[in-house]
Amino acid sequence: MLKRILSLILIFLSLGQESVRQMEDQLSLGGNLFLVNKEYMIGADYVPDDLVMPDVKKSSSAVLMRKEAAQALEEMFAAAKEEKITLVAVSGYRSYQTQRAIYNRRRKAAGKAHVERFVAVPGASEHQLGLAMDVSRSKTAGLKASFGKTKEGIWLAENCYRFGFILRYRQEWEDVTGYGYEPWHIRYVGKEHALRIRELDVPLEEYVEALRLAGQEYRQNEEGNP
Ligand code: DAL
Ligand code: ZN
Repeated sequence: MLKRILSLILIFLSLGQESVRQMEDQLSLGGNLFLVNKEYMIGADYVPDDLVMPDVKKSSSAVLMRKEAAQALEEMFAAAKEEKITLVAVSGYRSYQTQRAIYNRRRKAAGKAHVERFVAVPGASEHQLGLAMDVSRSKTAGLKASFGKTKEGIWLAENCYRFGFILRYRQEWEDVTGYGYEPWHIRYVGKEHALRIRELDVPLEEYVEALRLAGQEYRQNEEGNP
Protein backbone atom coordinates (compact mmCIF):
# COMPACT_ATOMS: atom_id res chain seq x y z
CA MET A 1 0.00 0.00 0.00
CA LEU A 2 2.82 2.39 0.89
CA LYS A 3 4.55 1.61 -2.37
CA ARG A 4 1.32 2.28 -4.28
CA ILE A 5 0.85 5.61 -2.50
CA LEU A 6 4.44 6.67 -3.21
CA SER A 7 4.06 5.95 -6.91
CA LEU A 8 0.73 7.81 -6.90
CA ILE A 9 2.37 10.85 -5.29
CA LEU A 10 4.98 10.87 -8.07
CA ILE A 11 2.21 10.72 -10.67
CA PHE A 12 0.43 13.69 -9.08
CA LEU A 13 3.68 15.65 -8.82
CA SER A 14 4.35 15.00 -12.50
CA LEU A 15 1.07 16.75 -13.35
CA GLY A 16 2.37 20.04 -11.95
CA GLN A 17 1.50 22.36 -9.08
CA GLU A 18 -1.44 24.10 -10.73
CA SER A 19 -3.23 20.82 -11.55
CA VAL A 20 -2.64 19.47 -8.06
CA ARG A 21 -4.08 22.68 -6.56
CA GLN A 22 -7.19 22.43 -8.70
CA MET A 23 -7.66 18.77 -7.82
CA GLU A 24 -7.16 19.51 -4.13
CA ASP A 25 -10.19 21.83 -4.27
CA GLN A 26 -12.28 18.72 -4.88
CA LEU A 27 -11.14 17.17 -1.58
CA SER A 28 -13.17 19.53 0.59
CA LEU A 29 -16.79 19.04 1.64
CA GLY A 30 -18.96 19.61 -1.41
CA GLY A 31 -16.14 18.47 -3.75
CA ASN A 32 -16.31 15.35 -5.89
CA LEU A 33 -13.34 13.74 -4.11
CA PHE A 34 -14.54 14.28 -0.55
CA LEU A 35 -13.70 11.09 1.31
CA VAL A 36 -16.15 9.46 3.72
CA ASN A 37 -15.40 6.14 5.39
CA LYS A 38 -15.09 4.59 8.86
CA GLU A 39 -12.18 6.91 9.62
CA TYR A 40 -13.38 10.12 7.97
CA MET A 41 -16.92 10.71 9.09
CA ILE A 42 -19.38 13.42 8.18
CA GLY A 43 -21.53 15.56 10.51
CA ALA A 44 -25.15 14.61 11.20
CA ASP A 45 -26.41 17.91 9.81
CA TYR A 46 -24.68 17.77 6.41
CA VAL A 47 -27.26 17.82 3.61
CA PRO A 48 -26.12 18.66 0.04
CA ASP A 49 -27.90 21.75 -1.31
CA ASP A 50 -28.36 20.57 -4.89
CA LEU A 51 -30.16 17.24 -4.60
CA VAL A 52 -32.34 16.30 -7.57
CA MET A 53 -34.19 13.24 -8.73
CA PRO A 54 -32.38 11.63 -11.69
CA ASP A 55 -34.64 10.81 -14.61
CA VAL A 56 -33.82 7.10 -14.69
CA LYS A 57 -35.56 3.83 -13.88
CA LYS A 58 -35.79 3.55 -10.09
CA SER A 59 -37.01 1.02 -7.56
CA SER A 60 -38.79 3.70 -5.54
CA SER A 61 -39.80 7.33 -6.04
CA ALA A 62 -37.36 8.64 -3.44
CA VAL A 63 -34.00 8.27 -5.19
CA LEU A 64 -31.97 11.49 -5.09
CA MET A 65 -28.45 12.55 -6.03
CA ARG A 66 -26.51 15.78 -6.35
CA LYS A 67 -27.17 17.53 -9.64
CA GLU A 68 -23.91 16.84 -11.51
CA ALA A 69 -23.92 13.21 -10.41
CA ALA A 70 -27.60 12.81 -11.34
CA GLN A 71 -26.92 14.09 -14.87
CA ALA A 72 -24.01 11.67 -15.22
CA LEU A 73 -26.25 8.85 -14.00
CA GLU A 74 -28.88 9.72 -16.59
CA GLU A 75 -26.23 9.66 -19.35
CA MET A 76 -24.93 6.32 -18.12
CA PHE A 77 -28.32 4.63 -17.88
CA ALA A 78 -29.20 5.89 -21.38
CA ALA A 79 -25.90 4.57 -22.79
CA ALA A 80 -26.52 1.22 -21.09
CA LYS A 81 -30.00 1.04 -22.56
CA GLU A 82 -28.60 1.55 -26.06
CA GLU A 83 -26.60 -1.61 -25.47
CA LYS A 84 -29.74 -3.37 -24.21
CA ILE A 85 -28.57 -3.23 -20.60
CA THR A 86 -31.27 -2.18 -18.14
CA LEU A 87 -30.07 -0.58 -14.93
CA VAL A 88 -32.23 0.41 -11.96
CA ALA A 89 -31.34 3.04 -9.36
CA VAL A 90 -32.09 1.64 -5.90
CA SER A 91 -30.58 3.93 -3.26
CA GLY A 92 -28.91 7.32 -3.68
CA TYR A 93 -28.76 10.14 -1.14
CA ARG A 94 -29.47 9.01 2.43
CA SER A 95 -29.72 11.43 5.31
CA TYR A 96 -27.86 10.74 8.55
CA GLN A 97 -31.18 9.71 10.09
CA THR A 98 -32.07 7.37 7.23
CA GLN A 99 -28.64 5.75 7.44
CA ARG A 100 -29.16 5.26 11.18
CA ALA A 101 -32.53 3.59 10.58
CA ILE A 102 -31.05 1.29 7.89
CA TYR A 103 -28.10 0.45 10.11
CA ASN A 104 -30.30 -0.42 13.10
CA ARG A 105 -32.69 -2.47 10.97
CA ARG A 106 -29.91 -4.43 9.25
CA ARG A 107 -28.09 -4.99 12.51
CA LYS A 108 -31.19 -6.53 14.03
CA ALA A 109 -31.91 -8.64 10.97
CA ALA A 110 -28.40 -9.74 9.92
CA GLY A 111 -26.18 -9.21 12.97
CA LYS A 112 -23.14 -7.14 13.90
CA ALA A 113 -20.57 -8.97 11.75
CA HIS A 114 -22.67 -8.41 8.63
CA VAL A 115 -23.36 -4.69 9.18
CA GLU A 116 -19.72 -4.05 9.96
CA ARG A 117 -18.83 -5.17 6.44
CA PHE A 118 -21.83 -3.90 4.50
CA VAL A 119 -23.63 -1.04 6.24
CA ALA A 120 -21.95 2.15 7.39
CA VAL A 121 -22.77 3.58 10.79
CA PRO A 122 -24.50 6.95 10.44
CA GLY A 123 -21.89 9.55 9.50
CA ALA A 124 -19.67 6.99 7.75
CA SER A 125 -21.74 6.53 4.60
CA GLU A 126 -20.90 8.33 1.38
CA HIS A 127 -24.58 8.00 0.51
CA GLN A 128 -24.98 11.07 2.76
CA LEU A 129 -22.88 13.02 0.24
CA GLY A 130 -25.46 12.51 -2.49
CA LEU A 131 -22.64 11.16 -4.70
CA ALA A 132 -23.24 7.42 -4.29
CA MET A 133 -25.80 5.17 -5.96
CA ASP A 134 -26.71 1.53 -5.49
CA VAL A 135 -27.60 -0.01 -8.83
CA SER A 136 -29.52 -3.18 -9.59
CA ARG A 137 -30.72 -5.02 -12.71
CA SER A 138 -34.44 -4.89 -11.89
CA LYS A 139 -36.79 -3.32 -9.39
CA THR A 140 -36.96 -6.53 -7.39
CA ALA A 141 -33.50 -8.12 -7.81
CA GLY A 142 -32.10 -6.41 -4.70
CA LEU A 143 -28.42 -5.81 -3.97
CA LYS A 144 -26.40 -9.01 -4.05
CA ALA A 145 -22.79 -9.99 -4.72
CA SER A 146 -24.03 -12.10 -7.66
CA PHE A 147 -24.90 -8.83 -9.46
CA GLY A 148 -21.16 -8.56 -10.22
CA LYS A 149 -21.42 -11.63 -12.48
CA THR A 150 -24.51 -10.54 -14.40
CA LYS A 151 -24.25 -8.74 -17.74
CA GLU A 152 -25.57 -5.60 -16.06
CA GLY A 153 -23.01 -5.78 -13.23
CA ILE A 154 -20.18 -6.44 -15.68
CA TRP A 155 -21.31 -3.55 -17.89
CA LEU A 156 -21.45 -1.23 -14.87
CA ALA A 157 -17.95 -2.21 -13.68
CA GLU A 158 -16.48 -1.77 -17.16
CA ASN A 159 -18.24 1.41 -18.21
CA CYS A 160 -19.08 3.53 -15.17
CA TYR A 161 -15.76 5.42 -15.37
CA ARG A 162 -16.81 6.89 -18.74
CA PHE A 163 -19.52 8.81 -16.89
CA GLY A 164 -17.46 9.82 -13.85
CA PHE A 165 -18.22 6.93 -11.49
CA ILE A 166 -16.01 4.39 -9.73
CA LEU A 167 -16.83 1.02 -8.24
CA ARG A 168 -16.05 1.90 -4.66
CA TYR A 169 -15.94 -1.43 -2.78
CA ARG A 170 -13.93 -4.01 -4.67
CA GLN A 171 -13.27 -7.41 -3.10
CA GLU A 172 -9.51 -6.98 -3.00
CA TRP A 173 -9.73 -3.57 -1.34
CA GLU A 174 -11.71 -4.55 1.76
CA ASP A 175 -8.71 -3.91 4.05
CA VAL A 176 -8.41 -0.39 2.70
CA THR A 177 -12.05 0.67 2.27
CA GLY A 178 -13.32 -1.12 5.39
CA TYR A 179 -16.29 -2.62 3.51
CA GLY A 180 -16.97 -5.92 1.76
CA TYR A 181 -17.52 -6.42 -1.97
CA GLU A 182 -20.41 -4.32 -3.25
CA PRO A 183 -20.62 -4.57 -7.06
CA TRP A 184 -23.77 -2.42 -6.94
CA HIS A 185 -22.31 0.65 -5.18
CA ILE A 186 -20.90 3.36 -7.44
CA ARG A 187 -19.47 6.71 -6.36
CA TYR A 188 -19.34 9.85 -8.50
CA VAL A 189 -15.92 11.51 -8.65
CA GLY A 190 -16.16 13.24 -12.05
CA LYS A 191 -14.85 12.00 -15.39
CA GLU A 192 -11.22 13.10 -15.07
CA HIS A 193 -10.71 11.35 -11.72
CA ALA A 194 -12.76 8.30 -12.61
CA LEU A 195 -10.58 7.74 -15.69
CA ARG A 196 -7.36 8.19 -13.75
CA ILE A 197 -8.53 5.99 -10.87
CA ARG A 198 -9.43 3.29 -13.37
CA GLU A 199 -6.06 3.52 -15.11
CA LEU A 200 -4.19 3.44 -11.81
CA ASP A 201 -6.50 0.75 -10.41
CA VAL A 202 -6.47 2.07 -6.82
CA PRO A 203 -9.07 2.57 -4.09
CA LEU A 204 -10.32 6.12 -3.48
CA GLU A 205 -8.61 6.15 -0.06
CA GLU A 206 -5.16 5.83 -1.65
CA TYR A 207 -5.90 8.26 -4.47
CA VAL A 208 -7.06 10.93 -2.01
CA GLU A 209 -4.17 10.31 0.39
CA ALA A 210 -1.60 10.65 -2.40
CA LEU A 211 -3.24 13.82 -3.70
CA ARG A 212 -3.14 15.35 -0.19
CA LEU A 213 0.53 14.43 0.19
CA ALA A 214 1.44 15.82 -3.24
CA GLY A 215 -0.27 19.11 -2.29
CA GLN A 216 1.63 19.19 1.00
CA GLU A 217 4.88 18.57 -0.81
CA TYR A 218 4.29 21.62 -3.04
CA ARG A 219 3.38 23.78 -0.03
CA GLN A 220 6.50 22.72 1.86
CA ASN A 221 8.64 23.54 -1.15
CA GLU A 222 7.01 26.95 -1.39
CA GLU A 223 7.69 27.64 2.29
CA GLY A 224 11.29 26.57 1.80
CA ASN A 225 11.67 28.80 -1.30
CA PRO A 226 9.53 31.88 -0.73
N1 DAL B 1 -23.09 0.04 2.04
C1 DAL B 1 -22.27 1.20 2.22
C2 DAL B 1 -20.95 0.84 2.83
C3 DAL B 1 -22.97 2.24 3.05
O1 DAL B 1 -23.79 1.87 3.90
O2 DAL B 1 -22.67 3.39 2.87
ZN1 ZN C 1 -24.29 1.94 -1.47
